[in-house]
Amino acid sequence: MSPDDFDYLARLLRRRSGMVLARGKADMLRRRLTIVMHRYGFRDLRALVADVRLGHEALADAIAEAMTINETSFFRDPAQFARLEQDVLPRLIKARGAASRLRIWSAACAAGQEAWSIAMLLDEMGLGGWRIDLIATDFSTAEIARAAAGRYGMFEVQRGLNAARRARHFRAEDGEWVVADHLRRMARFRRFNLLDSYGWLDEVDIVFCRNVLMYFDAANRAGVVERMADTLAPDGVLLVGESENAEPMPAQLRPWPGAHGIYLRTPQAALKAG
Ligand SMILES: C[S@@+](CC[C@H](N)C(=O)[O-])C[C@H]1O[C@@H](n2cnc3c(N)ncnc32)[C@H](O)[C@@H]1O
Repeated sequence: MSPDDFDYLARLLRRRSGMVLARGKADMLRRRLTIVMHRYGFRDLRALVADVRLGHEALADAIAEAMTINETSFFRDPAQFARLEQDVLPRLIKARGAASRLRIWSAACAAGQEAWSIAMLLDEMGLGGWRIDLIATDFSTAEIARAAAGRYGMFEVQRGLNAARRARHFRAEDGEWVVADHLRRMARFRRFNLLDSYGWLDEVDIVFCRNVLMYFDAANRAGVVERMADTLAPDGVLLVGESENAEPMPAQLRPWPGAHGIYLRTPQAALKAG
């Protein structure tokens, strides 16, 4: 691939999904483009890139989607889930007791393990009777379809789920593990690009934005964190991945004491910064 084509595709990715494509990723780009090339019936990569340069929108979307990195697992970053169970959720449960309602957003849910892990935890904490609105979104149409289907192979359930959780929250079917109805009742799924407007979202109590900020450049990272902070309830909580942070931190947020990657929205934090 010519340096010019590489630069063109890097700009396309940054615009479509926010992904920053480093020069070192040329092999990965070629591998994934080859899959798109076969799917759309191009004879070689040069022909594919020529077509996308002519403004073939569906092809540009397919390339951006093919380049997403969808690594995930159940209860990923267990220290954060422990903190959620011990501190974050008890605090919100107390605050929302009268309404018995919680809204949680898993903002880049990949194949859904993150969202279903949250649902499992809520069920185990006795919130089955609450009105839980768990919104799970992702840029990738294929990933969001998998997430909504809630069917996982043995290898996937072995990553992060113990036997007790498997038995409680899944049923076995045709060699796969299928999410049980008591979790499905809490969750809804839709495709959503984090670079688009958040106008359709009502106020949420917790946002999971984990292991996606790392693919964005500084400007997109800051813009996404700022808008997520704005979608939070005044005492809401933002979680980013263990190897990420929400810097530069918007005025509405402050770090959760003693926890990495967890931020609390507080009116006081906004006042202090102002
Ligand atoms: C590495 S996975 C993280 C999954 C999960 N949050 C976790 O921590 O295990 C990153 C996900 O971000 C999604 N993604 C990438 N760019 C996005 C964007 N602009 N808007 C929404 N999702 C995006 C990808 O499709 C991918 O499924």
